Amino acid sequence: MSAAPERPWWKDAVVYHVYVRSFADGNGDGVGDLVGLRRHLDYLATLGVDAIWLSPIAPSPMDDFGYDVAEYCDVDPVFGTLADFDALVADAHRLGLRVLVDFVPNHTSDRHPWFIDARSSREASHREWYVWRDGPPGTRPGTVPPNPWLAHLVGGPAWTWDEGTKQWYLHNFLASQPDLDWRNPDVGAAMEEAIRFWLDRHVDGMRIDAVYALGKDPDRPGSGPGNLAWAPDGTHLLLRGLRHLFHSYPGERVMVGEVFLRDTAAIATYYGQGDELDLAFDFPLLLAPFEARAWRERLEEVVAHFDPRQAWPAFVLSNHDVPRLRTRYGGGMAQAKAAAVALLTLRGTPFIYAGDELGLADATIGPRDARDPGGRDGSRAPIPWDATPSHGWPGERPWLPWPSDAQRLNVATEDADPSSVLHLYRRLLATRRASAALTRGSFAMLRSPPCTLAYLRAAGSDRRATVINLGDQSADLALPGAWVVEVATDAQAEGQRFSGRLEPLEAALLAPVDP
Ligand code: NOJ
Repeated sequence: MSAAPERPWWKDAVVYHVYVRSFADGNGDGVGDLVGLRRHLDYLATLGVDAIWLSPIAPSPMDDFGYDVAEYCDVDPVFGTLADFDALVADAHRLGLRVLVDFVPNHTSDRHPWFIDARSSREASHREWYVWRDGPPGTRPGTVPPNPWLAHLVGGPAWTWDEGTKQWYLHNFLASQPDLDWRNPDVGAAMEEAIRFWLDRHVDGMRIDAVYALGKDPDRPGSGPGNLAWAPDGTHLLLRGLRHLFHSYPGERVMVGEVFLRDTAAIATYYGQGDELDLAFDFPLLLAPFEARAWRERLEEVVAHFDPRQAWPAFVLSNHDVPRLRTRYGGGMAQAKAAAVALLTLRGTPFIYAGDELGLADATIGPRDARDPGGRDGSRAPIPWDATPSHGWPGERPWLPWPSDAQRLNVATEDADPSSVLHLYRRLLATRRASAALTRGSFAMLRSPPCTLAYLRAAGSDRRATVINLGDQSADLALPGAWVVEVATDAQAEGQRFSGRLEPLEAALLAPVDP
């Protein structure tokens, strides 16, 4: 009999999402970098996460802060050097932290040498690496785009006219982010080389940007949801190829896809039959209001659509593209704490966005401070490391303003306060790591009052229950059996018998009294 396949590490992991520009500055230029991040790896190991995902670090003109790549196999000088990256990976691995990098395969920068060549003439060797079209027949050149597809981030047509070669090129995002044409095998070959470059440098996986948009059929009339220029069949085929590449490496390198769709059923299809993505973020939960009914429905959808495929969920409640969870959930610290209890006790791989463990809210960004053309600066504010005026950032003022309340919500201050959000995350992460029920156990909703959520996680004799009151009235829960509060948003309750009562926005992780 052959041995059962080992459970891949990433199913039991908690991933921490580092927006590198805003995490920690090593050289005092006001922009976070790899040296700064490396100096704070101990903080992450102590926090108790298992892996870090770095936002893009490759050379880029930074129109979209690294999601516009000008060279796939290097590090932008603002973040450091390849030697800094290698040192970071080595240190992280020594501390037991895995490293994922962000990979942007759907588009390049318009300053990537491939696109510079592609737009130099219609005969250029890289011309067909991108998607070029004439306008509709009978229209004056340059006046009407080939079809009505719309671009993300700043809106407007997903096509830009190139005066030099008198054709339109496709861009799902900014005009300076031309889409690659993955139907051209040369593109796939170049991307494979780039992926190998990072896997050979011992990264443990990749978060793959805008992966649902890889397959496209610009000649198809009409458009996909949201007017996206995409064709799912082509994407599925490409994902099977990419998976093969990732899995040809030892060590279960993980492929996490950004499938930014609002429909869990559609997201689930990107796991294929266990032969496409390893993980795909469940965005419908992130986009849901913090209300018990909405959450129950979203979680039931995950079970309904993921379980039949044996797809393992990836949960995320904040990232660099949306306002932070605390801001979206009404601004209170109670919401931030309750959301932490939920995120870290669900069945799936949780992704924590750096700074959520401090309970940060978005920064207020005045017009003079705005940097992102898509208006997403608020959640990208720098991490405050201490309560001093420079919050532990050496040298120049950081590239964005501080999040509000940084004087109180910073690493040093919260480290010294056992009732802080930071300590809640540490307790939750330690408990999760030590419990088979919480990492690999089953998931079942429990009956509870309408404004609450209650669910059971179980693996053999190991059991945990999570209870959350998302309403504004106290609620009484009648759980089967007797439970003790193991971790709670109100730390004072820990170690006590669970009374069955939850105050508004109170949440707790419970262990059975007689396991
Ligand atoms: C998704 C990334 O998360 C976002 O920041 C970026 O603007 C787009 N993809 C385009 O790459």
